[in-house]
Amino acid sequence: MSFSRQIKIAPSILAADFANFGAECRAIEAQGADWVHVDVMDGHFVPNITFGPATCAAIRPHISGFMDVHLMIAPVDAYIEAFAEAGADLISAHLEAGPHIHRTLQAIRATGKKAGLAINPGTGIEAVAHLLDLVDMVCVMTVNPGFGGQKFIHSQLSKIRALRQMIGDRPIHIEIDGGVTVETAPLVVAAGADVLVAGSAVFKGGSVANPAPYGSNIAAIRRAAEAAR
Ligand code: DX5
Ligand code: ZN
Repeated sequence: MSFSRQIKIAPSILAADFANFGAECRAIEAQGADWVHVDVMDGHFVPNITFGPATCAAIRPHISGFMDVHLMIAPVDAYIEAFAEAGADLISAHLEAGPHIHRTLQAIRATGKKAGLAINPGTGIEAVAHLLDLVDMVCVMTVNPGFGGQKFIHSQLSKIRALRQMIGDRPIHIEIDGGVTVETAPLVVAAGADVLVAGSAVFKGGSVANPAPYGSNIAAIRRAAEAAR
């Protein structure tokens, strides 16, 4: 599939009904989601626990599109194979998750999956310069990882602009994760982002039984984002 910087909306299932992941994935895809963002948390790298490879494998058959797995775990390397086996299309690891991020990204690429590098709000992008040939995406956290529904951290906008400069015309996506709404989506797109993760802003007001709000929420975020192009 050729690279495109077209705006992609990636709902995060952290905001979904945990008792209905399969149906929720089908619903958001039917309502216009481009990617499905899967937040894996271990209660060690972040102060919250969600699920592991077995859940990813269980929801894989319910995702017809792109499964974007965000590993908020440390250590990472021992689990990469399991998430690749579970069916992830892209696996993101946190730069802060261990001492050997270069090796971690090599290990993700060795599985044949796309590799993502996630960076926390307190982390600069200097290290990214040495990893550009190993990543297909850089995920800029615009909240401190661990929970949905947090406030967008506006100081990250200058980081996104600098990252966009650094990437140039390399086929590397810039994903924004945390506090993305119709208000903040245009800000991050104007700064250079192309993949927008949104949990609470997509799932609010809807349910598996009433998925239409998912569609109107996704469409509103997309409209706001594209207007900023
Ligand atoms: C936070 C996760 C985000 C979060 C986004 O650690 O990585 O993906 O689910 O949720 P909202 O969009 O509600 O901030
Ligand atoms: Zn995430």
